[in-house]
Amino acid sequence: MDIFELANIKESALAEIARAIDVDGLVLAYRKYLDKDGVLGSFFKSMGALPKEQRGQAGIEANKIKLEIAAIYEQKFQELEKAAALLREHDRLDVTLPGVAPKVGHIHPLSLVEGRILEIFNGMGFEVVESQEVENEWYNFDALNVPKEHPARDVFDSLFLSDGSILRPHTSPGQVRYMECHQPPLRIIAPGRVFRRDQVDASHEPNFYQVEGLMVDKCISVANFKSIIDEFFKQFFCDCEAGADPQNKRLAARDMAAGENIRLRPSFFPFTEPSFEVDLRCVHCAGKGCSVCKQTGWMEIMGAGMVHPNVLKNAGLNPQFWQGFAFGVGVDRMAMIKYKINDIRLLYESDQRFLDQF
Ligand code: PHE
Repeated sequence: MDIFELANIKESALAEIARAIDVDGLVLAYRKYLDKDGVLGSFFKSMGALPKEQRGQAGIEANKIKLEIAAIYEQKFQELEKAAALLREHDRLDVTLPGVAPKVGHIHPLSLVEGRILEIFNGMGFEVVESQEVENEWYNFDALNVPKEHPARDVFDSLFLSDGSILRPHTSPGQVRYMECHQPPLRIIAPGRVFRRDQVDASHEPNFYQVEGLMVDKCISVANFKSIIDEFFKQFFCDCEAGADPQNKRLAARDMAAGENIRLRPSFFPFTEPSFEVDLRCVHCAGKGCSVCKQTGWMEIMGAGMVHPNVLKNAGLNPQFWQGFAFGVGVDRMAMIKYKINDIRLLYESDQRFLDQF
């Protein structure tokens, strides 16, 4: 090594110090050059081999460079310490910042709708009861006045278990079970899961949900049914588009007074006489015609009727004293109408993008 090496040593030492991005890196650079066994230390050790006349000058130069490197090191050390302190300060928990809201679950639209239906009827004095999903021939068919040869008994409509019992295709068997052990006057609303041997498509699922309603008392007529169901729809759909528009609200109130929001069409169920399908004036277009009501202005909502005297008899009640009405409403259908869902399968697919909207 000769005296001219010193300039190179200084240059590379300063470059390495400049490149250090933290205190650890800086200390490594320092040791590499200024430790006893470091680059500069080795230079001092090798000075004895220099010609005598160069030795004094080399010592002076080497000491000068040592001090220069040490000074630059010190300066850089201060800078890095300051930056690290700032970073620590920045990372400290600031309790005044708004928090990150935890992700919460959603209530499934079917549960929302079922809950609302029960709430409204409960408010009108109907007791919420539940009945069983697995039924037998008597409650599912005979007690409900379903004739032996009725197509609903066909194995292709109902799902039978291996022991001959039936997965109920509707909630109506619950009517008989309840009337058997309760004396009128009675008002019940019975939600539940039902099963049918249906091919899955946009409007059919083999498993869906219904709510059964039943009111039995003296002198019950279709007029009682109409007024109760009218009040139910008014409350259930009041936050839908047509109901939310003040102009439509006024129209709806006037029509309601004139009894024009509901239409009963003759139908047939073995367990009711007379039987009807209940249509509701479309809640999305107030009857003008839209995609939800397929431009008809009306929506088919539920099956209903006056409880057949045979059903009352089968449950042990005397039809001479007691009359009643019953209805069965599809929870899925109500949810699809209320939220404008055009495919029933969405309700059963657990797609988070769909469920997050409720
Ligand atoms: N159980 C019938 C159905 O599922 C609906 C209904 C219930 C009709 C009560 C009349 C009375 O279609």
